[in-house]
Amino acid sequence: MISIKNINEKDIDLCYELDSNTISLWSKKQWSHEFKKEGIRVFGLFFSKIIVGICVFHVVLDEAQINFFAVNQKYRKKGFGSYLMRYLIKECENSNINKLFLEVSQTNSTAEKFYSRFDFSTVGIRRNYYKDGSDALLKEKKLTTK
Ligand SMILES: CC(C)(COP(=O)(O)OP(=O)(O)OC[C@H]1O[C@@H](n2cnc3c(N)ncnc32)[C@H](O)[C@@H]1OP(=O)(O)O)[C@@H](O)C(=O)NCCC(=O)NCCS
Repeated sequence: MISIKNINEKDIDLCYELDSNTISLWSKKQWSHEFKKEGIRVFGLFFSKIIVGICVFHVVLDEAQINFFAVNQKYRKKGFGSYLMRYLIKECENSNINKLFLEVSQTNSTAEKFYSRFDFSTVGIRRNYYKDGSDALLKEKKLTTK
């Protein structure tokens, strides 16, 4: 049974745990900082009662930036990421958001393929963006609002 729930700061431990077990992007302090930003929304994807994916996005006027998107390693390649992305896109469209942005490492070919499937196109590049010196590709998807 798959479900998606809004997550708030009281579930920070769930977020930090999934992050630590996947891409190790933020410390607990950084997660706390993220939750406090105006316009931040967090979706948790659950399979039964287990959290299998998280998406953090930041809404500013009619645009949104995906700041975190990951699926637990054990549950990858089973369609969970696509389920979460489809939900996110629909929610954004229903909220009259026109564009969705994200940054992804040029070396992350899995994510590249994943985002291409959802028609994200590369609109910029940030050189030496990541700690390992890799470049970030700035990607954009135009949404179909009503
Ligand atoms: C990117 C990610 C979210 C995909 O989640 P997922 O649940 O595995 O995705 P899905 O099962 O819905 O896969 C959808 C499509 O993405 C592509 N894809 C996913 N994993 C892939 C892989 N390992 N290699 C190549 N393509 C892949 C495929 O096109 C796949 O379609 P297919 O199964 O018909 O071939 C997941 O791999 C992940 O969490 N990665 C680590 C975090 C990350 O890199 N986040 C993005 C950067 S912020």
